[in-house]
Amino acid sequence: SDTPLVVVAIDGPAASGKSSTAHWVAERLGYRHVDSGALYRALTLLATQEAGAVEGWTEAVLLALAARVRLAPIPGGFEPLIDERPAGDGIRGAEVTRCVSKVAQMPGVRDWVNARVRTAAEGNAVVVDGRDIGTVVFPAAPLKIFLVADPWERARRRLVQRLNRRPTDDEIAEETERLVQRDAKDATQTVQAKDAILLDTTYLTQAEQVDRIVALARALERGW
Ligand code: DC
Repeated sequence: SDTPLVVVAIDGPAASGKSSTAHWVAERLGYRHVDSGALYRALTLLATQEAGAVEGWTEAVLLALAARVRLAPIPGGFEPLIDERPAGDGIRGAEVTRCVSKVAQMPGVRDWVNARVRTAAEGNAVVVDGRDIGTVVFPAAPLKIFLVADPWERARRRLVQRLNRRPTDDEIAEETERLVQRDAKDATQTVQAKDAILLDTTYLTQAEQVDRIVALARALERGW
């Protein structure tokens, strides 16, 4: 019971649709979804509230705060708690997004997240999304997906979600620039496992990408 039953690992760069895809794949398969980025984000949210300016954040400070953050089971998956309360939508805010890469670069923080994610997966069939799930967290996962999409298309999707209307080309250009910068900051963590299946979603709908991953997982469940 201390090892997960099945792991579907979904990695890829920012705004490649990992979290929403992982959510729907998990629901279709009856697995639980673990969003590893949500833990980095919850810890970062707490730090923005209590650790002063981001320039002064050290690994020791972050690891002390980490004792107050955990993943709690909810139907279909897990949610991050801060002081036993749901961390909420604040983890998706601009301030957290700006500061989280620094937190995610601290080796001790990565070990903490990885341990929490592995604990959440114990005894469960899970779909786990992140950057290094197929390489570091679950290197023996039987199904690994690496999601990519053209930066312009990722930026466009982000904006449609945020603005709830059709973004202008200037807006997309600006968001593409921000995304490319984030990709560069996260580059060392974002690694495609040798045995991962590359899925380019630039020309796929959300439903199509979910269908493809579910089909791969079902084939695996049948023993290929
Ligand atoms: O996927 P996301 O945007 O929620 O990720 C938030 C940050 O955490 C981002 O800087 C990448 C980092 N991250 C990571 O380094 N490793 C993971 N497994 C998940 C997220």
